[in-house]
Amino acid sequence: MFKKPLWLECVHCQKQYGLEQVRYSCDCGGTLDLKRDLLQLDGEQLKQTWETRWQNRKRGIYDSGVWRYKELIFDVDEQYIVTRQEGNTRLYNAGKAAEYAGIENFLLKHEGENPTGSFKDRGMTCGVTAGKFYSANSVACASTGNTSASMASYAAVAGMESVIFIPEGKIAYGKLAQALAFGGKTLQIKGNFDHAMQLVVEVCRELNIYLLNSINPFRIEGQKAIVFEILQQLDWQVPDWFIIPGGNLGNNSALSKGLQELYQLGIINKIPRIAVIQAAGSAPLANMWKQHTPYEAVQEPETIATAIKIGNPISWEKSLRGLAWSNGVVEDVTEQEIMDAKAMVDAAGIGAEPASCCSVAGARKLVQAGVISRNESVVGILTGNILKDPDAVIGYHQNQLGHLGIKGTYANQPQLILPTVEAVRQALQAG
Ligand code: F0G
Repeated sequence: MFKKPLWLECVHCQKQYGLEQVRYSCDCGGTLDLKRDLLQLDGEQLKQTWETRWQNRKRGIYDSGVWRYKELIFDVDEQYIVTRQEGNTRLYNAGKAAEYAGIENFLLKHEGENPTGSFKDRGMTCGVTAGKFYSANSVACASTGNTSASMASYAAVAGMESVIFIPEGKIAYGKLAQALAFGGKTLQIKGNFDHAMQLVVEVCRELNIYLLNSINPFRIEGQKAIVFEILQQLDWQVPDWFIIPGGNLGNNSALSKGLQELYQLGIINKIPRIAVIQAAGSAPLANMWKQHTPYEAVQEPETIATAIKIGNPISWEKSLRGLAWSNGVVEDVTEQEIMDAKAMVDAAGIGAEPASCCSVAGARKLVQAGVISRNESVVGILTGNILKDPDAVIGYHQNQLGHLGIKGTYANQPQLILPTVEAVRQALQAG
């Protein structure tokens, strides 16, 4: 059970209890402390152990999971670097989501564990650093929510003004809340993301504001660090596949750029395949790929995964370049597939916002199509935090997404009961 001698001790009467049984309070009613015999431990030795475990990660720029790889990000005088120690995100065994996808060796890199809850922070530390280097006082972006939350935060840290263009009424609440809270000047556009994107490019040119969408090349440099960090976590063993959601298509372009650089440097000697997954209602790249037709923007993009509700992605050409290099594929997934995959990612105890779960929905689809085989090793990128979009979660679990054609297949409905033990017994028996 527990390895070191540990026991429970009452704060009132000092009575001691072993840990063999579950116990929350003393027989006398007092609360319990967990105690250990400190004389058994050597303080100096502990310090050394903790030092080794923590290695050199403490404070400062190299504690960032982006600037740690500075040589492949960009070299800039430290005084300009605006960091929140982003990155350092976990790489999970996919658990239930792996079973669901039908892949034995499936890992999920949770970029929703960044400081503002999405992978955007990796690009934003670089974008705002570049802005500071260029003496920008104001920065701007169009966003489906996460870029704006991240930009507002980093701009606040740097003491810059931030101007945000979001499609009216179409971004998840958690993201809007962050943008407002971090002090971003938030302009809701009557139109969709693509309209906002067009506008912000023009506004930045006319009003001399520094543009921080992923069209900004420094942003892409920072996002490369996702793959640097994954590979370092895997001791530079390259998986067979990376699977990543696609919206404006900057992130997968960054992924392949990072991999190409590692390959050229001989740090890795295998080229993994990249699968980009789009939501079926917002899938210009998947349409082009699957139908072998020229690129054509989607005029009225739709999807519950509002983060990737984008019809005319700015980086589609960069994206194709990476796909060609990695012998990659593009797939699209339905609303139902996204939300069911999300239910599995969530039920695995990991959790992510809808757009992120395209990685898992896409993995399952590609396994079923025989493109990915069960015994290949796969790393999926989860791009945003589960708390970004609580409406989507509650809607699914309360089975209230019928108007969007989505069933709560794996719904976990809350129940209202009387405050009695009998009512609880019945609720538990009902399963
Ligand atoms: N996942 C999440 C959670 C996102 O927020 C985004 C993009 C993507 C995936 C797609 O990444 O655009 O590089 O292909 N969100 C942008 C935003 C558009 O404004 O926050 P991409």
